[in-house]
Amino acid sequence: MNIALIGYGKMGHEIEKIAVSRGHNIVSIIDVNNPDDFNSPAFKSADVAIEFSTPDSAIDNYRKCFVEHVPVVAGTTGWLEHMDEVKKACSEGGQTFFYASNYSLGVNIFFVLNKFLARIMNSYPDYDVKIDETHHIHKLDAPSGTAITLAEGVLENIGWKDRWALETAENKEDLVIHSIREGEVPGIHEITYESEVDVISIKHDSKSRKGLALGAVIAAEFTKGKKGFLGMDDMLKF
Ligand SMILES: NC(=O)c1ccc[n+]([C@@H]2O[C@H](COP(=O)([O-])OP(=O)(O)OC[C@H]3O[C@@H](n4cnc5c(N)ncnc54)[C@H](O)[C@@H]3O)[C@@H](O)[C@H]2O)c1
Repeated sequence: MNIALIGYGKMGHEIEKIAVSRGHNIVSIIDVNNPDDFNSPAFKSADVAIEFSTPDSAIDNYRKCFVEHVPVVAGTTGWLEHMDEVKKACSEGGQTFFYASNYSLGVNIFFVLNKFLARIMNSYPDYDVKIDETHHIHKLDAPSGTAITLAEGVLENIGWKDRWALETAENKEDLVIHSIREGEVPGIHEITYESEVDVISIKHDSKSRKGLALGAVIAAEFTKGKKGFLGMDDMLKF
């Protein structure tokens, strides 16, 4: 299939390698210096555009894809306050938009495990719960999109927490997410339940960006020919 890449940084390069190895054609690469290429015949020939840019540029890029009716696989994080607007534009315009806060298979298994554990822990309010995430120093947003998805999984299932908070809790109903930025760490997420007597924790540690890039290309293959708002649950059907 024909793939356009929007954002040609660490993820864009990794996705290119995997897409080519799976027999796809990269027909257009758009980064900060060539936004006019959204109007090019090459971009319009894409079956799917895979977008990994920056929190500030992502929404505008999605809009430009919608204008050309090119389906989007969206990987950028840090723009979720605009999600309703994007969903509305997607449904009203008959567009295709796939979003995942994390494209790795392992992390999506971890999301399921997180919800399962939270459902059990809901009966044991003597345990407090927190989330720690560590990423490389170049990451622009905090907490990570993955940590937000994990927090939502806990909040859906634990009756005694009602919102997430970055770094400090204002009250005991806050689920604290600690964000650490360190070296070149691809991504570590850990959920910890602690009582007076013991600690239970589950952890996902990415070894590289390869799993993320592979997941994004598989999502693009899944997205081709479909309509509407899509996500990992539609694709993986755990
Ligand atoms: N959903 C996931 O699974 C997942 C995985 C990894 C990274 N991410 C997210 O993806 C995004 C990109 O990550 P990265 O590690 O590749 O970052 P990066 O900084 O290496 O690359 C970002 C690229 O976007 C380009 N860019 C800036 N403005 C642009 C614009 N207006 N149009 C097009 N490109 C533009 C930059 O020049 C750069 O090349 C981040 O938000 C990151 O958090 C998501």
